[in-house]
Amino acid sequence: MSGENNNRIIIFDTTLRDGEQSPGATMNLSEKILMARQLDVLGVDIIEAGFAASSPGDFEAITSISREVENAVICSLSRASIKDIDRSAEALRHAKKSRIHTFIATSPLHMQYKLEMTPDEVLRHIEEAVSHASKCAADVEFSCEDSSRSDLDFMVQACQIAVANGAKTINIPDTVGYAQPAEHAARIAYLKERISQDVIISIHCHNDLGLAVANTLACFQAGARQAETTICGIGERAGNAALEEIIMALTVRKHLYQLEHNIKTEQIYPAARTLSRIIGHTIARNKPIVGANAFAHEAGIHQAGVLKKAETYEIMTPASIGLPSNAIVLGKHSGKNAVKTKLEALGYNLESEQIDLVLAAVKRLADVKKEIYDEDLEALVLEEIYRIPDKYALVHLGVQTSDSGLPPTAVLVLDINGKRVQHAGFGVGPIDAVFKAIDKVSGHSPTLEQFSVNAITGGTDAQGEVTVRISENNRSSIGRGSHPDIINAGARAYLNALNRLSKKEEEN
Ligand code: KIV
Ligand code: ZN
Repeated sequence: MSGENNNRIIIFDTTLRDGEQSPGATMNLSEKILMARQLDVLGVDIIEAGFAASSPGDFEAITSISREVENAVICSLSRASIKDIDRSAEALRHAKKSRIHTFIATSPLHMQYKLEMTPDEVLRHIEEAVSHASKCAADVEFSCEDSSRSDLDFMVQACQIAVANGAKTINIPDTVGYAQPAEHAARIAYLKERISQDVIISIHCHNDLGLAVANTLACFQAGARQAETTICGIGERAGNAALEEIIMALTVRKHLYQLEHNIKTEQIYPAARTLSRIIGHTIARNKPIVGANAFAHEAGIHQAGVLKKAETYEIMTPASIGLPSNAIVLGKHSGKNAVKTKLEALGYNLESEQIDLVLAAVKRLADVKKEIYDEDLEALVLEEIYRIPDKYALVHLGVQTSDSGLPPTAVLVLDINGKRVQHAGFGVGPIDAVFKAIDKVSGHSPTLEQFSVNAITGGTDAQGEVTVRISENNRSSIGRGSHPDIINAGARAYLNALNRLSKKEEEN
């Protein structure tokens, strides 16, 4: 990757670092690995897998992702400190291709109040950090945090020092989402004139004023050739620039931008679905590109137009982003090959034993649900393969409700660390009865902050997907569960959240 006036945009995905910093988006190790694999299949050039020095969890995630990922460069974030950079280098040691990303703030506000450093001290830190990083890795990126509120010439000076000490990519973050498109593009153009043409200028925009994607696209026209993005735009506060929006703008308006990218657009929808399942946030219906309404036409006049010629109201096709046609894919008689082929088409490259587990789950589900769709299969993959080992697992659940004044009753058997425990209890409704029974046997009593049910596909036999958020002792966690019976899905979601909470307790 070189910065000479090329026309290719490098996609640096930070879903696993900046994205994971967004409230409620924490992922466990196996979920991060799954997401990293999905990003690799999607074709991102660089995966920022975490911030190695920030926690043992991030360090382990970067180490594992470095081992697992085949194509993308793996990157770790570091403050401009020798200790952080060494930690990044250690976490990245197994990566086929690696990058160290180091940053320090250059705005007067951040230098004075956050860093408590003079501008000269900041420049000295840049020199020291970037030259150390260049000894640890062949590929070094430097970011001036809060650059959109930095003095332009000071920012340029900081970047020149970083380049002189070995940085190959210079990132200009709009850390607080303050920039406006023309203004930020002018900043990039000003920098580009004052820096070696071999250096890649990168752009990292936050969405506080809803302009992250617009700012990113404007900066491409001023010469930026790397975009820092996240799937569905998740990230700190209002989020980061959404990968799918940037890529589809470059694709749909190719003649305008004349810029290439390596993203396989038909992997966009599977990546967004996987992320949404992992973090337990449903994708807003009106979200561009990946929302349920993005290709839905309600007005009669639009429907008539689309039926005559899709392009009348569709600027891209559902197939171009990998939106499944909802064809029935699997059923009771499907074999391992059919499951494997379908999984690969959805972007999951699993080991043979993992496919056996998914196949067994497909067969179990096919006993109660005739038609198994792509979304069902994805839910099974997440349940069977990417769950953390369960401390609390559901063995049996029976629920009784009646309209004759009898309170709803739940009878359950749990496996707790290999020991069977049973309990029966009452509640205001069936879910209340089940959750109270689980609390009783697990010894937890968390607050239920969110409970939502979603039908994975259409039809009354659709699997219900329940997402819960619970909190206890200042820790919170999200859990998911899917089952054709929504009470059973609720129990699974609640147990999943308790398992994740216990894991967090163990880790601290
Ligand atoms: O928003 C920001 O400034 C960042 C940097 C660490 C690149 O995320
Ligand atoms: Zn950021």
